[in-house]
Amino acid sequence: MAIDVLPLHPLFAAEMRGVDLASTTDREVLARIRASMDRHAVLVFRDQGLDDRAQLAFAERLDGQLHAKTGISALAANRFGNEALTDVSNVDADGQLLPADDRRRQYSLSNRLWHTDASFVDPPGRYSLLSARVVPPVGANTEFADMRAAWDALPEDLKNLCAPLRAHHSIAHSRELLGFSFSPEERERLRGVEQPLVRTNPATGRRSLYLASHASAIIGWPLAEGRLLLKDLTEHATRREFVYSHAWREGDLVIWDNLATMHRATPFEDKRYRRDLRRVTTLDLPRDMPAGATV
Ligand SMILES: [Fe+2]
Repeated sequence: MAIDVLPLHPLFAAEMRGVDLASTTDREVLARIRASMDRHAVLVFRDQGLDDRAQLAFAERLDGQLHAKTGISALAANRFGNEALTDVSNVDADGQLLPADDRRRQYSLSNRLWHTDASFVDPPGRYSLLSARVVPPVGANTEFADMRAAWDALPEDLKNLCAPLRAHHSIAHSRELLGFSFSPEERERLRGVEQPLVRTNPATGRRSLYLASHASAIIGWPLAEGRLLLKDLTEHATRREFVYSHAWREGDLVIWDNLATMHRATPFEDKRYRRDLRRVTTLDLPRDMPAGATV
């Protein structure tokens, strides 16, 4: 079957047709998907209907190592029994809607802030693969922002300022922004890492801003000045011309490059409708590292 790639936005994001991800083992097809990721940064695959096993296995075939320590695992047991499968849903282990004051729901609300996945670990997350199992009838889009286009559009003096900077990222920070609090033990576990503020994709040479609501400070800068720079850059990078909004259909599998994009969830009636999406995130490691190797 011929593979087609249809752009979804003038700058980035495309739909790839003609691939059955669950059965794809062909090296050339996997290389084509990686090359398309380098170009488009977000790829949409419709009608895939992946189950958990197939989703995990495809992520390993595509990009090797999986991120297995998710933020939510600090709060509650993973309902899938696999820490590499992140629960992006509003239901409990029995499939019932989470109450409004449930700590897991409160924690997940921070997904509505612009972020990249797993910027708070080293190595950071590269690809996220999000599979839509149950989708509410209205709302609940995911928005993506192209951080390469955002970099390209920065004035030269700001590029020069940003290029050598590093930021501190912790998942605790993005939760605390919405009033969530952690115990001292949880906070210690989520203490985070430093990341560059600007990244270069080695395959394409394209640079991108590396921002997230997890970023709390610019290393070596006074706290207030650092936070203001991060806020200004985030406002710039999420201007509407840099944003693609994905309307989910059940069976969708969307892959995005966390090193080249930010994303956020959008509101829906989460106390009325079920939404069950499941995410696997790969790590930014050399691709010749065998799956299962220790990092
Ligand atoms: Fe996310």
